[in-house]
Amino acid sequence: MTSHNHFDKFLILIKVRLEAMHKDCIYLDNNATTKVDPAVVEAMLPYFSDYYGNPSSMHTFGGQVGKAVRLAQQQVAALLGADESEIIFTSGGTEGDNAAIRAALLAQPEKRHIITTQVEHPAVLNLCQQLETQGYSVTYLSVNRQGQLDLNELEASLTGNTALVTIMYANNETGTVFPIEQIGLRVKESGALFHVDAVQAVGKIPMNMKTSTIDMLTLSGHKIHAPKGIGALYVRRGVRFRPMIIGGGQQRGRRAGTENVAGVVALGKAAELELLHLEEATARERRLRDRLEQTLITTIPDCEVNGDPTQRLPNTTNIGFKYIEGEAILLHLNKHNICASSGSACSSGSLEPSHVLRAMGLPYTILHGSIRFSLCRYTTEAEIDAVLAVMPSIVERLRALSPFKSDNAGWLQQQEKAVLGVGR
Ligand SMILES: Cc1ncc(COP(=O)(O)O)c(C=O)c1O
Repeated sequence: MTSHNHFDKFLILIKVRLEAMHKDCIYLDNNATTKVDPAVVEAMLPYFSDYYGNPSSMHTFGGQVGKAVRLAQQQVAALLGADESEIIFTSGGTEGDNAAIRAALLAQPEKRHIITTQVEHPAVLNLCQQLETQGYSVTYLSVNRQGQLDLNELEASLTGNTALVTIMYANNETGTVFPIEQIGLRVKESGALFHVDAVQAVGKIPMNMKTSTIDMLTLSGHKIHAPKGIGALYVRRGVRFRPMIIGGGQQRGRRAGTENVAGVVALGKAAELELLHLEEATARERRLRDRLEQTLITTIPDCEVNGDPTQRLPNTTNIGFKYIEGEAILLHLNKHNICASSGSACSSGSLEPSHVLRAMGLPYTILHGSIRFSLCRYTTEAEIDAVLAVMPSIVERLRALSPFKSDNAGWLQQQEKAVLGVGR
């Protein structure tokens, strides 16, 4: 055999291996992103090739695309229990959060105070920090050990100067669900606007904007089996909305720019499927998640669940394994083609402990050894079994090598003080 043949064979082997890896991948990182549902792909494809007109055009060819955009608005509105006119398409969760916060401030220029929480997504936190440099004051509400808010702290923070309260529905790292309607009632009494980042909650918690206190709500397509780069912002009728993106008059002047039509159609279809599957899928995910969680915490010593044990998304578990690094667990899981996520690495890839777990005041040993499993409607019993089969030995092997032993108590205490003393 020539060296050329050897090389070809090598390439084929790599290709086969990559394909196997792709097919066999056990994907338990659905809070990061989800697989696009095949029915969603099917719905969106014709809008690249056949129906490529501009939805704002006067002619029939464009008009039929405009109709598809309106249908998608109705589908998203149905998932939220809203009116189609209250739905604005965006490029995703980050844009929705930014647009809502800026709109609320522009609509009430006399008010200069914002309330949020210490555990928001960077799409909210980093914008709030920037606004502080522009003359706004921001209150970052604290959370307790279970990641829950103190509503008395919220009440004490609300003033006549508060323009906006922006609080997430459910936390992306721990799954902890905030009592959104109880918060909303307090916000409404103060006269402030109420924005909710529901990127992780939509499709997992039933919503009805008609009976809700929420003024604006953000959702993102790629968390609900639609593609990345599409999302929506719900804006209650009557709420004064100032657009963040200025240009043409698309979307009734609320978000300029020709719509990402294929993405919009995909989001509509994904919303329809979420509504259809919500009850049965979340019950199934909860059962699988509970089995995974219970078996892990009963078979592996020195680990605990992070977050609120009852007020939690049905698909998420965040578990701290003491004395080891979450990233090391992830690398070992990766060797078994299991995708999960670490609660301790931020999106920049730094090994800084997660701001969410830090705000919860978790001890150093748990902060660094926490990982998140997030399920979806495609998750199977066999996949959970596969994770359960490998986790105990991974943790045992890493602990055998760990320098963070409980006998090193003085050193650990020092680290905990250092970590908890930093930042918010
Ligand atoms: C709670 C939350 N808000 C906002 C975002 C940002 O959404 P997108 O990735 O669509 O910009 C995410 C994404 O992880 C999230 O989890």
